[in-house]
Formats: sequence, C-alpha cells, structure tokens
Amino acid sequence: MSFIEIRHLRKEYDNAVPLQDVSVSIGKGEVIGIIGPSGTGKSTFLRCLNRLETPTSGSILIDGEDICRPDADLAKLRRRMGMVFQSYNLFPHMMAVENIMRPLQSLLGVSVRDAYDEAMEQLACVGLDDKARRYPDELSGGQRQRVAIARALAMHPDIMLFDEPTSALDPGMVSEVMSVMKELSQTGLTMLTVTHDMRLAKELSERVFYMDQGGIYEDAPAAKIFEDPSGERTRDFIFDIRSWRYALSSENRDMHEMLGSLDDFCRRTFMSKMQADSCRHAVEELAVSHLLADIDTHPEHRFGITVDYREESGETKLLVRGSPLPESGEPVSDAILAGAAKRLPDDEKGRAVFSIISRAEDK
Ligand SMILES: Nc1ncnc2c1ncn2[C@@H]1O[C@H](COP(=O)(O)OP(=O)(O)OP(=O)(O)O)[C@@H](O)[C@H]1O
Ligand SMILES: [Mg+2]
Repeated sequence: MSFIEIRHLRKEYDNAVPLQDVSVSIGKGEVIGIIGPSGTGKSTFLRCLNRLETPTSGSILIDGEDICRPDADLAKLRRRMGMVFQSYNLFPHMMAVENIMRPLQSLLGVSVRDAYDEAMEQLACVGLDDKARRYPDELSGGQRQRVAIARALAMHPDIMLFDEPTSALDPGMVSEVMSVMKELSQTGLTMLTVTHDMRLAKELSERVFYMDQGGIYEDAPAAKIFEDPSGERTRDFIFDIRSWRYALSSENRDMHEMLGSLDDFCRRTFMSKMQADSCRHAVEELAVSHLLADIDTHPEHRFGITVDYREESGETKLLVRGSPLPESGEPVSDAILAGAAKRLPDDEKGRAVFSIISRAEDK
C-alpha cells in the first residue's frame, strides 16, 4: 500500500467540476510538482488532500486511513500535513517567532518554553533565527514565506503541501525560498508543490503531475515531462512557455514592436547573443521578405511567426516558423543562411521552418 492512495476523487461545485476522477498513488518521501493551466483543479486537489475542501466522492487514504470518511479525525490529519500558500497568512500583529509558537500552543498544547525552543530551531532551519523578533511587515516577501514554511515545519508534519509558494515574490526572492524547499526535499518529507514556476517544478520535483481539465493528464518523472512529454496537451503547455508568437496583419505590421517583443523573449529564455542574433535575422527575413508581401495580397488573412526554443542534450534548438507558407515559394535569401539559421523542409501544416542549433558552449 502506498503512503497516499487517491481513488476516484471527484469534487463538484454548483457550476464547476474542478476534479472529475483522479486516482493516483504517492509513495512516502516522494517530491511531486503539480503544474498545469489555470483553473484545472490544482489548488482544489491540494485542498481536498488536507480536507480544507470536502470531496464530492472518492477516497483518499493516508497511511491506510480514509480521510474522506465523515468520522475522520481532521485535527490529526492537519497536524501531519503542513500547508504553505502563496500569501503567507502570517498574523501581522505577532513577531515571526510568535507566529510559529501560536499553533504549537493552541493546537498541540505545547508549553511556552518548548514552543519557543521549537520555533527558534525552525527559524534557524530556514536561516532566519536573527529575524525572530521582526513583525511580518518588517520582513521581505521571501523572508515571510520562509517564516510560513518554518511555522508548518514546527508541527513536524510528514506531508507538506505548497500552493504557489513563490508566485507572490519578486524574482530575486524566489531563489531563497526555492533553496529552503530544495533542502526540505532531501529530508524524507513527502512534498506536493503546485506551481506556475517551471524552474521550481523542474529543479525541485522528482515526479510531476500535469493537470488539465479536472484530472492528472500526465504523471511522469520531471525530466520526462520537461524534455519529452508524452501527451499532446502536456507538450503544448510545456513548449508554449518557451514559444514566442507574433501575429501580423494589415492593421498590425509594426516591425519595431515585433522585434522588441522578440528581444524580450530572447532575454527571458537566456539565449546567447549569437542565438538571439540568428533568431532575429530569421524572423526579420521571414516577415520582410515573405509575410508582409503576402499581407498586401491577402489583407483578410492573419499571419504569424512563432519561435520555439528547446534545450536537448546540451544543444539549444530554435525553430522559427512563418505561417502560412510564403506564397511565392521563393527560396529564402542568403541573409538567413549567413546567420546560423538553416531552412528546413516546410512542416506538415505547410509553414516555412528555419532551424538554429547551437551547442551549450556557444553561449
Ligand atoms: N469554492 C469554490 N466554489 C466554486 N467554484 C470553485 C471554488 N473553488 C474553485 N472553483 C472552481 O474550480 C475550478 C478549479 O479551481 P482551482 O483553484 O482548483 O484551479 P487551479 O488549477 O488551482 O488554478 P490556478 O492555476 O489559477 O490557481 C475553477 O473553475 C474554479 O473557478
Ligand atoms: Mg490554484
């Protein structure tokens, strides 16, 4: 029997069914990332797990005990399951150390002295023992989130649930929370983390659930999900994050804006200068030599350019596609070939494709 066994879990609201039929087994100590589009039931799934929500049907067994039964001991369940939310939920009028002590005293009946010792120990674990007497508004977002993690850990849970733990943080603070979470993931805790931050999901998790349309659509090792997902919707989701799309039409043909948006994309994906230059050449060439002319002859159509960015075994692959196929069918000029871009056969949808491949050491 696995540690957490979920069978035919369903959750309905009056006008939404966020979880249709979820069955999955989770082993003790597994570190799981949960990703997927907005509104696909990720938070609902976590909230059912610690019974902040009551499932409509199905069962959730934790260590063999069905927590969906009406007589389930929810207080005991919540003690063994820590939860960290996007919005810290710290008491503003209490110091960091008091925020951690309070639930120990009220839920577990721990003495003030023991609660204090425990709180200080947990603060030290998240690197904040020197901030124990600060109030939440005297702490940065990353520090507040670390206090929230310490508060959950003080209960000595064996399962930790995180719902978007980094999404309210400035980019600079994400890594401090991430490194605390990474350390935790080595301690044998069973962890489930819902996140829109693909870097967090990738670096933290061993196993990833891709949730879509009320269920776990793909369940696979993290490396598989991020490098070579099996499901079509997973592929779309994963690769969309690394795709740039730009629509051109007779109303919108502003090359300057288009290239500005492309530059942003190149920065976000940490492309090297060589890659970014090649990409720019291919996009510019495609737009100027082909698509703009086609827009003039077919002003009723919308035209688009996409760039897909992938990293695979030390190589960066950029695919630049123009849609639809340049009507003229003329060969692409040397300007592209002079960059690193290579013209490939048109894809199955008849789009022109250029490929730019560079090795990691070119970066
Ligand atoms: N208390 C509620 N009452 C009614 N509908 C709800 C309730 N909670 C969630 N829903 C609906 O259930 C669906 C799934 O919501 P959920 O919050 O689980 O999505 P999510 O995957 O966590 O999304 P996001 O990535 O945006 O956080 C949504 O359509 C939402 O509107
Ligand atoms: Mg959510």
